[in-house]
Amino acid sequence: MNSSSSSQNSEDLDKTKLPAHVAIIMDGNGRWAKKHLLSRIKGHEKGAEAVRTVVRACRELGIAYLTLYAFSTENWQRPQKEVAALMTLLTKFLKSEQKELAAKDIRLAAIGQIERLPANVQQVLHETMELTRSNSALQLNLALSYGSRTEIVRMARQIAKEAKSEQLDPDDINAEIVASHLYTKDMPDPDLLIRTSGEMRISNFLLWQIAYAEIYVTPTYWPDFGKDEFVEILKNYQQRERRFGQV
Ligand code: FPP
Repeated sequence: MNSSSSSQNSEDLDKTKLPAHVAIIMDGNGRWAKKHLLSRIKGHEKGAEAVRTVVRACRELGIAYLTLYAFSTENWQRPQKEVAALMTLLTKFLKSEQKELAAKDIRLAAIGQIERLPANVQQVLHETMELTRSNSALQLNLALSYGSRTEIVRMARQIAKEAKSEQLDPDDINAEIVASHLYTKDMPDPDLLIRTSGEMRISNFLLWQIAYAEIYVTPTYWPDFGKDEFVEILKNYQQRERRFGQV
């Protein structure tokens, strides 16, 4: 598709009905690589380009929060070489994007067990978060060493400690208090969850937060995901009627 048809593509989007928060399970890098007779690592490299495209698209369209599942707690069990390549890719990505994030008013945040990441990754991550701290047009959340059950266990421990030290009355625990002890405490819940590569699974991603999210699964492998398909998904989202359990 050429650029004029692609900009037309986003022209029919209703800018007043955009999801405030889009979350994406980026899946299919390995299968994309296999299909092209390339190494899995090449698939992740191509996947990083798709990350760049989608971040730019969110910024252009005016979406306020984008959360990307970049590395799960389960991903630590992949071959050491692949884990190392993903960490290198992440570091390179952050270094290469720092300027653009700063210039485009994009704030970088991270959710997950950041303390488990290699020291050099933590360093560039903290540096980029610090550099973009006051930005506000788009918040890009990278889920890194993230797992929803671990997040929920961490929340339960924190709340239990507060109750034990009598900072909190157990009878006062409600959904707001639970949400305020999750990594996502300062963000709205995702309105739209996209998963690429056709798998119909949630894979331990934002279990609490997606309670009312609209779900869209596309067969496209993540490295082939681009702005045009993203816009089509947003249009599909806009046609859905969200009832939040009501009539
Ligand atoms: C899933 O593909 C993808 C991942 C496990 C990691 C996602 C990483 C990237 C998109 C690249 C780097 C990220 C950033 C933020 C720069 P898979 O390997 O599970 O694919 P498969 O299921 O086809 O094997």
